[in-house]
Amino acid sequence: MINIRRLTKTFFPNTPNEVQALRGIDLDIPEGCFAGIIGTNGSGKSTLLNAVAGTFEPDQGRILIDQQDITNWAEYRRASLIGRVFQNPFAGTAADMTIAENVVMAMRRGCSRGLGLALRRSVRDEIADRIRSLKMGLEDRLDNPIGTLSGGQRQALTLLMATWLRPRLLLLDEHTAALDPKSAAQVAELTLEIIRREKLTALMVTHSMQQAVQLPEHIIMMHKGQIVRQFGGQEKARVRVPDLLAAFDHVRRREQLDPAVAEILGRQYV
Ligand SMILES: Nc1ncnc2c1ncn2[C@@H]1O[C@H](COP(=O)(O)OP(=O)(O)O)[C@@H](O)[C@H]1O
Ligand SMILES: [Mg+2]
Repeated sequence: MINIRRLTKTFFPNTPNEVQALRGIDLDIPEGCFAGIIGTNGSGKSTLLNAVAGTFEPDQGRILIDQQDITNWAEYRRASLIGRVFQNPFAGTAADMTIAENVVMAMRRGCSRGLGLALRRSVRDEIADRIRSLKMGLEDRLDNPIGTLSGGQRQALTLLMATWLRPRLLLLDEHTAALDPKSAAQVAELTLEIIRREKLTALMVTHSMQQAVQLPEHIIMMHKGQIVRQFGGQEKARVRVPDLLAAFDHVRRREQLDPAVAEILGRQYV
């Protein structure tokens, strides 16, 4: 369960470059919910994920995971609760290390013992088993450097590693956006499979309306640092891409409208 209260973040405050990236975000994500975040470029999607992951301190507001206030926790400490996958397939893994070594590092997050000890037979078997579930034939390439894999294979492995220890929260930031369409579809499918199997609570930023409709069970729409619309439950089940595009249009129209005119026209414009 994630609770976000009145979260704000302004970059370069009191300068000509000031950007109000988050303007009072309130959000509750129930245990086991897979939520998608959509929004125009620069609407604060990545900033919201970064604030939750602890990349920087917010100016105001609180972040709670399982009723525990983590707002002042350092990023490394939150990493014990949070798994992350970024857009860049090269970001989550060490290219010169083998598949097995990369996985063992993910398995041993927060532990200090050496890699050699960890690469015991039983551990190799466990790694091979889990990697087999990716259905990419990588279980036969455990000792190959991860740099020899395609972007899609690498992103699938990063996803597996980020969820290996079953994090309390999984954060995905456009993690299929840099892949070719076939790999993107494969990684998207794998994402849904892992989140369902492990019953994870997840927040996924996506640029793809199609993906937003197909994968998560809840949709959060952001605009200019605020959450402007959410689709949940039955409404989410029914929503299609044109509905999301219409909702964006509505937000833009509302933005252009004089507040006094909006008031005259009725509540749906406010
Ligand atoms: N580290 C940063 N320093 C300065 N400005 C930033 C930083 N991160 C994001 N921003 C700005 O904050 C706004 C929101 O950015 P971001 O959260 O990355 O948007 P999105 O992910 O929705 O495209 C943008 O105007 C962006 O330029
Ligand atoms: Mg972003």
